[in-house]
Amino acid sequence: MLTFSHLGKTYPDGTDAVVDFNLEVARGELIALIGPSGCGKSTTLRMVNRLIEPTSGTVMLDGQDYKSMDPVELRRRLGYVIQQIGLIPHLTIAENISFVLRLQGVNKQKRRERASELMALAGLPADQYLDRYPRELSGGQQQRIGVLRALAHDPEIILMDEPFGALDPLMREQLQDELKRLQQAVQKTIIFVTHDMDEALRIADRIVIMRAGRVIQVATPEEMLRNPADEFVAEFIGRQRLLRQASEVAVREIMLDNPAMVSADTGLAQSLEFMRRRKVDSVLVKGPNDVFVGAARARDVQRALEAREQSKISAYARHGSVFVGPDDPAMNAIHHMLAYGLDAIPVLGPGKVVVGIVTRGTLAGVLDDALRTSAAAPALEANA
Ligand SMILES: Nc1ncnc2c1ncn2[C@@H]1O[C@H](COP(=O)(O)OP(=O)(O)O)[C@@H](O)[C@H]1O
Ligand SMILES: [Mg+2]
Repeated sequence: MLTFSHLGKTYPDGTDAVVDFNLEVARGELIALIGPSGCGKSTTLRMVNRLIEPTSGTVMLDGQDYKSMDPVELRRRLGYVIQQIGLIPHLTIAENISFVLRLQGVNKQKRRERASELMALAGLPADQYLDRYPRELSGGQQQRIGVLRALAHDPEIILMDEPFGALDPLMREQLQDELKRLQQAVQKTIIFVTHDMDEALRIADRIVIMRAGRVIQVATPEEMLRNPADEFVAEFIGRQRLLRQASEVAVREIMLDNPAMVSADTGLAQSLEFMRRRKVDSVLVKGPNDVFVGAARARDVQRALEAREQSKISAYARHGSVFVGPDDPAMNAIHHMLAYGLDAIPVLGPGKVVVGIVTRGTLAGVLDDALRTSAAAPALEANA
């Protein structure tokens, strides 16, 4: 029903975001569009609802070229769900779900009926939720409402851009299963963007994997696992599995419990000497009541000493707000370290008291173990 032929997008700054994208999507199919960040997934999706105009090639809906279709009419046939749910805060759940219907001039009674019907479909008690406001719902519930809202005007195709990206793993799995059930019940064609291979493997009829704007492989989950098209696909499957395992291990299980730590009023020379003795290149700094203040790097302290600064170590404590809890998934530690370019991250208990530290070294050990026991190993071998 949806045909992409030689579709391409080059942004005005010269970025080739999508290059020669070809795909035939059948009615009722759930396609997962996957690949690393920046590979062109969102750009592809937005060319389907014409939020972005292609620079080459075409999209066709039931054989009709997009270019000859009225964009407003087209969007009527599409639903769109994004990660930033975007529920309107001062409208009730019923009003949020049926917002598009209101724009289409459907009367209030009918809108409410439709909202109830959709709630029932998603297994949510309508009488309990319809008159509440978004802020009274959890993140997962709000995301469910976001999905229902995209279904309200009964579109033929639903476009979803990392819709469950902000949810915790358990909630994600629930919503993935729910989406799959919903799709079977309402027979919609769904294009689902994700960067999570487990998510794609779980829900997709076919997976389209992209890299740097190009499609690398189109296959069913089973085919892709058995026969990854190349090293990139095999690695993508494998690496993602490792990250998944890291999300099942708690920080507590991998942290070191005697981090190098000094009080905020420790002198610079004294702190540097302490780091030398402990053979570390940064030190955690604690204030009154052992509350974590930040981490100071030997490099910075050394420089300050050379400049004959008189301050205390607390002046060089950075990233005071970057930490994980002992019961967080180890995955969070990885994310934070990558995001802030850190070699270690403190683990804080109640009252922001330091209870341990996770270092790159410990993580490398954990991931190495995970690799050797990884379920992805056969897929990697099959490719070799
Ligand atoms: N408006 C824009 N102008 C210029 N480049 C863009 C724009 N939007 C996205 N890009 C670039 O196009 C590429 C693909 O982006 P995107 O489709 O958002 O990727 P994904 O959704 O897979 O992360 C990236 O290199 C991104 O930086
Ligand atoms: Mg994107």
